[in-house]
Amino acid sequence: MIKVAIHGASGYTGFELIRLLLKHPEVELVTLTSRKFAGIPISEVFPALRGVCSLVCEDFSENEVGKKADLVFAALPHQASMNAVPSLLDSGAKVIDLSADFRFRDEKTYSEWYQHHSTPELLNEAVYGLPEIYRDKIKKARLVGNPGCYPTSVILAMAPLVKAGIVELESIIADSKSGVSGAGRGLSLTTHFCEVNEGFKAYKVAEHRHTPEMEQELSALAGKPIKISFTPHLVPMTRGILSTVYANLNPGVSVDTVTDVFKEFYEDAPFVRVLGDGVLPNTLYVRGTNFCDIGWKIDNRVNRIVVVSAIDNLTRGASGQAVCNMNLMFGLDETTGLLRTVWQP
Ligand SMILES: NC(=O)c1ccc[n+]([C@@H]2O[C@H](COP(=O)([O-])OP(=O)(O)OC[C@H]3O[C@@H](n4cnc5c(N)ncnc54)[C@H](OP(=O)(O)O)[C@@H]3O)[C@@H](O)[C@H]2O)c1
Repeated sequence: MIKVAIHGASGYTGFELIRLLLKHPEVELVTLTSRKFAGIPISEVFPALRGVCSLVCEDFSENEVGKKADLVFAALPHQASMNAVPSLLDSGAKVIDLSADFRFRDEKTYSEWYQHHSTPELLNEAVYGLPEIYRDKIKKARLVGNPGCYPTSVILAMAPLVKAGIVELESIIADSKSGVSGAGRGLSLTTHFCEVNEGFKAYKVAEHRHTPEMEQELSALAGKPIKISFTPHLVPMTRGILSTVYANLNPGVSVDTVTDVFKEFYEDAPFVRVLGDGVLPNTLYVRGTNFCDIGWKIDNRVNRIVVVSAIDNLTRGASGQAVCNMNLMFGLDETTGLLRTVWQP
């Protein structure tokens, strides 16, 4: 059994990890940490866990946590993660970090969009945790930087087209809508019920921090630098991200070529469901699952492809993907404990 700790277990991604790991056949949950709820049973923090999980939250001590576990999920805000991860690694545990702190290969990009990085040497070691692209590297990793939720949905929507070189690289526009749990469990005016319910708004236009993460990965696939336009929106629903991504098709690219490119790219990807031309996804059908559903339509009038992808921000966009990465790091099939979780309203 893999002994697992969750550092920052009282947040939304922390709960999602607990939910998935409780039914994982190869995992023993050994430690959950929270500063605010230290000494309190996790079932009081999350009443859904009553009668299901008897662990009590422990205070924050990286050395202790790292010694007890083979793997630690760091489900902390960025910067807090950067401070915690080096000691977790030093104490011998493998780490999957859900924050942005270990997603970037270039320290300068991180410091431009976030803040000074205190352990830039670890950026060279960390593997970007998108299994469809980095499966083999993840298997050997000691530290995984788990992708952001918006980037997961946008990169998966565009990766096959960019890799195949069939779209104009400077034409990509990603328009994404997220449920409110994307902002975490902490309270803030912008995410409180009356400010969100029955409204729909764009935010951080042309300045959202997930933009450089998408650019990093799409540029690597293209073999040259790509800049994209990214506009996030807040939707009054609890979970889910729907990304609508536009790109100009190169001359002469047919629907059949697009279909072949997607099918081939995701041939061995159990968590990407290629729906096909004209079949468009819905966040409801990926809720609580690790699937990313992708469909598209070519708008021949303007020679543009519109790709739509749907994920659950907390599962495929965070904790489900993290569990998938753990499976790979410990030599398990990547679907272990994840595949049979589906949702239907
Ligand atoms: N929500 C999503 O959809 C999503 C998707 C992808 C990635 N992520 C990333 O995953 C990480 C966790 O997200 P979340 O949504 O679970 O956040 P959250 O609900 O706000 O939870 C944050 C957790 O970190 C703990 N914590 C430890 N040090 C902290 C500090 N210095 N400041 C504030 N909290 C601290 C908090 O518990 P105590 O205060 O009790 O210690 C809490 O357990 C973040 O880096 C986030 O960007 C989130």
